Amino acid sequence: MKGIILAGGSGTRLYPSTNSVNKHLLAIYDKPMIYYPLSVLMLGGIREIMIISTPEDIGRFEEMLGDGSAFGIQIEYEVQREPKGIPQALTIAEEFIADDKVTLILADNIFFGHGFTTLFRKAIKNHRHATVFGYRVKDPERFGVVDFDHHQKVISIEEKPEHPKSDFAVTGLYIYDQQAVKLAKKLKPSKRGELEITDLNKQYLMRNQLDVELLGRGFTWMDAGTHESLFEATEFIRITQKRQGFKLACIEEIAYYLGYISKQALYEKGKAMEKNDYGQYLLEIADRKYTQQYWDSIEHHPMLGLVQNE
Ligand code: TTP
Repeated sequence: MKGIILAGGSGTRLYPSTNSVNKHLLAIYDKPMIYYPLSVLMLGGIREIMIISTPEDIGRFEEMLGDGSAFGIQIEYEVQREPKGIPQALTIAEEFIADDKVTLILADNIFFGHGFTTLFRKAIKNHRHATVFGYRVKDPERFGVVDFDHHQKVISIEEKPEHPKSDFAVTGLYIYDQQAVKLAKKLKPSKRGELEITDLNKQYLMRNQLDVELLGRGFTWMDAGTHESLFEATEFIRITQKRQGFKLACIEEIAYYLGYISKQALYEKGKAMEKNDYGQYLLEIADRKYTQQYWDSIEHHPMLGLVQNE
């Protein structure tokens, strides 16, 4: 399974903050926005990842994350010359995807909730052709909307419908099989001049190949595309982390728990930032004496190669 993080776009809704800075480099509380989607792919066990961004910004992401080896993964970089739509990510990444399946995630999407890792890993394991993730929202008309029957079989998928058939928005996380690039190439721009991911998903639906996974009320899904939602996301992350004493989307911690990096490597990363809470957190993890109870308190524990770091 390959992973793509789409981090281009124009970010006009966040002007003037994004006049000269890419949206996904902005901080959500204590870490850059792109850490959040990257942590999702890592928790899913995806280690070959491509980041796609604008010609102006791609170098900044590379500066930040390098070839990924510091986190035990491989990261490649590609450019999207103009924001011509989400499905373009698939055609840009054609060679990278090769004959593999691919998970695409939008870089301004945040997923959090007890059981998310398990749900995502199961979705990858049970994946047939195309899987989208549905989340109940109050204002479905602002999103792609998926409707399904009692067996969770998808009936329709519509982009920003005036009269939504369900309350379930399609989130910015998609899993596709080997047909995706071919189908994406055939798409035509919509009225707003973009290739629409909903049109690609419709192609799968027509073939009876579109599945939906539902994220229940215990999950949080946010996109941080407006001033208001960016602030809300920041607030949410701050409060949750403060309350629990765990950090969300701390990719260094995840790499350590997954057995991708050593305790020494984690310690060095912490040392480099020891003046702040983020660095201290990494040092604390590296120093921690783990008990079984501690591991049991970590939701994704059974799947991770935890003990090998000890
Ligand atoms: P949007 O929020 O729809 O668009 P945007 O980021 O350009 O922002 P704005 O509406 O404020 O101008 O994009 C959703 C995500 O997908 C976001 O993370 C950017 C990314 N994206 C691309 O990288 N390339 C694209 O062509 C499009 C349409 C989106």
